[in-house]
Amino acid sequence: MTNEDASSQRQACGLSTDARFESLLAEVCETLKELREEGVEGFRCRPESLAAVKAWGRLPVASQERLEDIRADIGACTRCGLSAGRRHIVFGEGNPHAELVFVGEGPGSDEDRSGRPFVGPAGQLLTRIIGAMGLSRERVYICNIVKCRPPGNRNPRPDEIETCLPFLHRQLRAIAPRFVCALGKVAAQTLLETERPISRLRGRLHRVGDWQVMPTFHPAYLLRSPERKRDVWQDMQLLMRGLKPRD
Ligand code: URA
Ligand code: URA
Repeated sequence: MTNEDASSQRQACGLSTDARFESLLAEVCETLKELREEGVEGFRCRPESLAAVKAWGRLPVASQERLEDIRADIGACTRCGLSAGRRHIVFGEGNPHAELVFVGEGPGSDEDRSGRPFVGPAGQLLTRIIGAMGLSRERVYICNIVKCRPPGNRNPRPDEIETCLPFLHRQLRAIAPRFVCALGKVAAQTLLETERPISRLRGRLHRVGDWQVMPTFHPAYLLRSPERKRDVWQDMQLLMRGLKPRD
């Protein structure tokens, strides 16, 4: 069956893929429960299994690729001009199974020197924000749109972003988080594929493929405009609500 056939069939049913999938899952769960009640042997329908079935299609599925493989593939990258001025590639760090990934725009001088993301003044503020959320740097994952420092901390250029972005997408598929927090204009506009200003994007979750993206102000911007901290905290509270375990 072609995609077009599938799509017209779905339309004929009057249900979206999601709704059809949900109703199929509900049927499977019901059938399994009935079989259990009838005493049918051979099905192990423990509550955990039923909960896992219920979660199908709602949770992102991780790719088979590991973060180490992606890092190895980047190698001693010279795919774009940023490689000329960098000291270290800043790949990212944290929990390879994180439910929440923070994405900045690119390494600054402290990050370039150490090879670790968000360790300078803006990074220290990010670390405090993560702590205030009841999380830690080890429980989340932190990385950037481009892995090498743009000279003089200028914004990465579109061609540099285009070259590096496939690696971020592979990282996100390997981690399979539920939420991605896009820090600042460059990360938010890149991940949401829009040119709308960050002030118009923040404040709500945006569904992008398998993950929900929360754009918020960059911690470096908060250092210059502390009156925006309240907005960021609102955004983080929305994320925290989403991260609570679901039924
Ligand atoms: N700013 C970023 O966007 N990323 C870092 O890693 C550090 C500062
Ligand atoms: N400009 C940015 O690049 N990021 C912000 O968070 C705010 C203004």
